[in-house]
Amino acid sequence: MNEARPAGFQASAAFRSKLQSKTAQIGVIGLGYVGLPLGLLFARNGFPTTGFDIDQAKVDMLEKGGSYIRHIPGSAIAEQVGEKRFRATGDFGDLQAMDAILICVPTPLDQHREPDLTFVCRTTEAIARQLRPGQLVVLESTTYPGTTEEVVLQLLVKSGLSCPVLPYVTDGSHVTTPVETEGDFLLAFSPEREDPGNKQFQTHQIPKVVGGVNASSALAAQALYGQAFEKILLVSSTRVAEMAKILENTYRCVNIALVNELKLLCLRMGIDIWEVIEAARTKPFGFTAFSPGPGLGGHCIPIDPFYLAWKAREYEFPTRFIELAGEINAAMPEHVVTYVRDALNRRRQCLQDARILILGIAYKKDIDDLRESPSLRIIELLKDKGAQVDYHDPYFPRLPRTRKYDFGLTAVEPTAEALASYDAVVIVTDHSSYDYAAIVRHAPLVVDTRNATKGVKEHREKIVLC
Ligand SMILES: NC(=O)c1ccc[n+]([C@@H]2O[C@H](COP(=O)([O-])OP(=O)(O)OC[C@H]3O[C@@H](n4cnc5c(N)ncnc54)[C@H](O)[C@@H]3O)[C@@H](O)[C@H]2O)c1
Repeated sequence: MNEARPAGFQASAAFRSKLQSKTAQIGVIGLGYVGLPLGLLFARNGFPTTGFDIDQAKVDMLEKGGSYIRHIPGSAIAEQVGEKRFRATGDFGDLQAMDAILICVPTPLDQHREPDLTFVCRTTEAIARQLRPGQLVVLESTTYPGTTEEVVLQLLVKSGLSCPVLPYVTDGSHVTTPVETEGDFLLAFSPEREDPGNKQFQTHQIPKVVGGVNASSALAAQALYGQAFEKILLVSSTRVAEMAKILENTYRCVNIALVNELKLLCLRMGIDIWEVIEAARTKPFGFTAFSPGPGLGGHCIPIDPFYLAWKAREYEFPTRFIELAGEINAAMPEHVVTYVRDALNRRRQCLQDARILILGIAYKKDIDDLRESPSLRIIELLKDKGAQVDYHDPYFPRLPRTRKYDFGLTAVEPTAEALASYDAVVIVTDHSSYDYAAIVRHAPLVVDTRNATKGVKEHREKIVLC
């Protein structure tokens, strides 16, 4: 897509000519929310692309042209599979045939809330077993600054091949220091900025930040992504690229904590925080609006800042903003439960044995992802207090088991009769498909954590914002 070659482009001649002729084999490891759209993007741009995953069920489904991610239609996969531009496999021996290998595996926290790099390490070891000279390896998984050089590189060089860490200078488009051909393979970091369900920006429209362990690696990665992405920004190291991604997510985490804390204050002061934010966002400069809610969810914002906080401890540096934001955001589900309890008390009911319907399990509206969803914690807290809890989510007919929770629940349709049969309905995820006026009309009490009912005119006395 980006035909203009950067002036400083000096990746290996063979790699460059394979990119030009679109014969470069692209391997994407980890076919989840990040890896699958990325692989399909390269396939759509004409590159023979292979997706690798340890989950054989996903591999089988993709090979049949099926999808397991709601916003990626099966037809988009079937088209690329049919054209023989995309295939999925669990055979990591095929990595040797790849010219570029992009790592998109999970980077969760362990039970002590410390970085769990098991997936990255296992994947890198699998690559190291197949590594051959000339290959470009790019880590895309979000992680702390230093991972590419300190973890991935150290595992890859066990193959006997080399890739020296050499500083370089860049103006964002070009390397402005001399570039020599260094080492046997190329290694870079390029953070994934996928926002599942975002209809405004498609993957290729989101600028791609790229940093290499040396100039050749950076330029090779720049050339690769330039084939599929509209804008590439070169940075001077993998550490800068890693830190840029964590800054983006920490910025969101801290700002969400700020509005969550101000929401609690506004509730106490009898001020509508959502109206306040609408007013503040009319300022055309210097203010970015964030929405308060029931707590953080997803694979990024609740997790990534803690990768940095962990790394910062090595430098005896306390990351106070991150810790404070984590504390405020983590307390939000408890705050929701307190509001449900108090709202019931005002109606002379108690939480114990109350029948509660949770609307929305996904961590944000209109997506089918429940990782780290605050709904799960809210259900746990309500059940701990003796409430009988049901749920509905259009994307989850059954509540799947997660690493932490296994409630064994099946969705209850929010019909008029069903809504009326509960003591309280709690809106945790503001899916667009819900008829909020009908919910308020039929439910005796609605606790709304997202201001989803703002357009509802009738029976507002039943609504408790929290
Ligand atoms: N989901 C997002 O919105 C998002 C956005 C930006 C960045 N990220 C980052 O991207 C990375 C991947 O996230 P995701 O949401 O795509 O995760 P995901 O859980 O949706 O997908 C990960 C995939 O990797 C596979 N996998 C695990 N170990 C593997 C291995 N050893 N070899 C091959 N495949 C393996 C899993 O089976 C799964 O299919 C994470 O670091 C995440 O922080 C995610």
